[in-house]
Amino acid sequence: MDSNRVKQALSKVNDPELKQDLVTLNMARDIKVDGDKVAFTLVLTTPACPLKTVIEEDCKNALSEVGFKKENIKINITSEVRRHGIQGKETIKGVNQIIAVSSGKGGVGKTTVAVNVAIALSQTGAKVGLLDADITGPNVPLMMGDQNPPDIQDGKIIPKEKHGIKYISMGVLVPPDKPVVWRGPMLDGVIRQFIRDVIWKELDYIIVDLPPGTGDAQLTICQAVSLAGGIIVTTPQDVALLDSRKAVNMFKQMRVPVLGIIENMSYFLCPNCKERTEIFSCGGGEKAATEFGVPFLGRIPIELEVRTGGDSGKPITAVNPSSEVSKVFKEIAAQAAAGASVVTINAAQTTISV
Ligand SMILES: Nc1ncnc2c1ncn2[C@@H]1O[C@H](COP(=O)(O)OP(=O)(O)OP(=O)(O)O)[C@@H](O)[C@H]1O
Ligand SMILES: [Mg+2]
Repeated sequence: MDSNRVKQALSKVNDPELKQDLVTLNMARDIKVDGDKVAFTLVLTTPACPLKTVIEEDCKNALSEVGFKKENIKINITSEVRRHGIQGKETIKGVNQIIAVSSGKGGVGKTTVAVNVAIALSQTGAKVGLLDADITGPNVPLMMGDQNPPDIQDGKIIPKEKHGIKYISMGVLVPPDKPVVWRGPMLDGVIRQFIRDVIWKELDYIIVDLPPGTGDAQLTICQAVSLAGGIIVTTPQDVALLDSRKAVNMFKQMRVPVLGIIENMSYFLCPNCKERTEIFSCGGGEKAATEFGVPFLGRIPIELEVRTGGDSGKPITAVNPSSEVSKVFKEIAAQAAAGASVVTINAAQTTISV
């Protein structure tokens, strides 16, 4: 048996999400055959890959079909987040994929989601940054628990670092009690500075926390930055769902792929009697996702620890990673990362074939 036969066998295994085979996607590397033993490296497109074990099992089945015993198959699993870049749009030096978190309505939990999804992604082994694009109402530093100014090196900003991620926000550049009263073009300038003048270094992902609505910050991020996708946060009540339609339409108009909708504050699980109460009703986010033809990424319950953690700079995913809510954030992060991989691979292949 030689490595070509192995390659041939692996070319019959598809990545279920990317819907292409592992050889075409260059995900099966360093194939080594030694007698009746085979070893290779499976390079996933994200460390958060939700289908890791499925792909591994499919590889083993394909190789056992061509004669290898399962105990003689060694798969070294690693990952490499591919770089997303659209011609004419800004990329961030050293950063592979940028994902924006938006909502039509304020106060639905964008910042909470952005912070916890970023931390959850970093816990899978990814290198993650968080860019607070809410210039006039920056809440990221409060939720991260450090509002002190960042260091400056040669006129460039060194991002803050906490809970395993890097972040930058207007909230660490101006005193917390000083309002930022600016017009659109000035907001645009700061956001561009966060892209160009922050030493992010090598990162797999940057999560962008957007202000509510569809204003200047959204326009700058969507028009100027090469986004791998956008996530929309909604709460289940009708008024929020109505506004989430605007957020979906904004992304679609700007040709930013929608990675999915998250329903936040979906239900309350009583810590004493475990009864589930649907305070704002429930299920609207999923219905909206179906109606808009975009993925539904998951439901986050109302949890006291999410709120207190946000207020005290101790995000639940960082301080209680094994809690039920943290697991939900982890699943959402994995789904979003998988969606961003699909967008990135498709964009790269479209560019090549043009
Ligand atoms: N799942 C949740 N459980 C409990 N509290 C939550 C949850 N999600 C968000 N909150 C709380 O709701 C409040 C608003 O959340 P957050 O600031 O994340 O919303 P936002 O959409 O970013 O708001 P804005 O539009 O002002 O930027 C915060 O106090 C936060 O702690
Ligand atoms: Mg916010």
